[in-house]
Amino acid sequence: MRLIISVGTRPEIIKMAPLYEALSKLNEIELLLVHTGQHYDWEMSGIFFKELGVEEPDINLNIGSDDQVSQTSAVMKEIGKIIESYEPDGVIAVGDTNSVLGTAIAASKMEVPFIHVESGLRSYDFSMPEEINRRISDHLASLNFAPTSRAFSNLMEEGISPKTTFLSGNTIVDSVIKVLRKVSAKRTLEKFDLDGAQPLVTLTLHRKENTEYEHKLIGVLKALEELDDITFVWPIHPRTQKALKTFDLWNKLKSLKNVRILEPLGYLDFLGLLISSDLVMTDSGGVQEEAATLKRPCIILRENTERPEIIEMGFGEIAGTNPTAIISLVRKYLYQANLIERLKRTPNPFGDGSSSKIIASVIQRIWDLKSLRRPP
Ligand code: UD1
Ligand code: UDP
Repeated sequence: MRLIISVGTRPEIIKMAPLYEALSKLNEIELLLVHTGQHYDWEMSGIFFKELGVEEPDINLNIGSDDQVSQTSAVMKEIGKIIESYEPDGVIAVGDTNSVLGTAIAASKMEVPFIHVESGLRSYDFSMPEEINRRISDHLASLNFAPTSRAFSNLMEEGISPKTTFLSGNTIVDSVIKVLRKVSAKRTLEKFDLDGAQPLVTLTLHRKENTEYEHKLIGVLKALEELDDITFVWPIHPRTQKALKTFDLWNKLKSLKNVRILEPLGYLDFLGLLISSDLVMTDSGGVQEEAATLKRPCIILRENTERPEIIEMGFGEIAGTNPTAIISLVRKYLYQANLIERLKRTPNPFGDGSSSKIIASVIQRIWDLKSLRRPP
């Protein structure tokens, strides 16, 4: 079996790493690892191959940054050429980025089965590029792997066949478990001169629906300024750094004494930071999943989430970017008695770390049955 594995951004590399390992152990398999190059800085891409022990990609398409349509169509066009020359039996991708959509469309149009991992997430918010990407990718896929029972139900409600849909958990849990062995919270805190900082909150923000609006960034900054008894650590995504500079908010942020601004971190340091944190504040999908995996409360800086399990299981709540809402939720979750103990007893809605093995064994079984094909 010849499979193309497509990755393009930081979370795809992290979530694909354990699956790449599990797939490479299958019988008679040949893998071609293709990086679309959507993310390209060392700290957004290269460092994750190194830290998660994944081989360098066989091919980098060097797509880079562009507007939504140009980026997606560039992925489609360039990965199409690779599909044509490599003639794979299937193409696999994880998540909801433009790289995933470009890959899904190219494979489907070339009548090569597309396998989608992390299917069925729905925010019902079409202003998010990710909602468009995931819906189309799920419907084009010959095989869908849903991370949660909620995601599985979403796919069933949309008429996707239960014969080609599997509940697998999310491979992020596998990645966290694998990498955590190498993480030292002490080392990370010392490295960034954060030992003794308490309470400590890790913050990440990068979504289009936040970074494109000045008032939303101002809302977050106002909350940070007000919460001056708390240390915030903010490894800033390049998109957000650019937006803060465009809106002339960068110097304002730098003036906040309780906020430590960092470059994007590698996975070891980021997990080191998460396990040292009393709370996580984020608009990231992967970071929400990691908060639940590491049993940390999570305040969601968005108006909705395609991961409602976080709220349903009591790991956190939606604050949006309104400063009053952020401040009240931060205080509520930071100072709740026995919260971490309660979260430790709460099952992880995203799985138990066996997701990659499940996905790889389903692919092997379906392949052996020779039923990996496009849906009718
Ligand atoms: C993309 C995904 C998003 C995912 C995120 C993970 C889409 C539509 N969005 O968003 O779903 O959550 O990746 O981080 O696919 N940039 C750099 N260096 C890099 C990469 C990006 O400086 O290595 C800057 C560029 O200015 C670029 C901007 O970040 O224009 C946005 O990058 P892009 O990949 O288009 O979107 P993300 O916001 O990263
Ligand atoms: N992450 C990281 N360093 C950072 C910020 C995030 O390693 O400085 C990891 C984080 O642990 C998670 C992933 O990046 O696994 C999430 O990526 P991101 O927030 O960019 O995208 P999303 O998950 O929202 O698509």
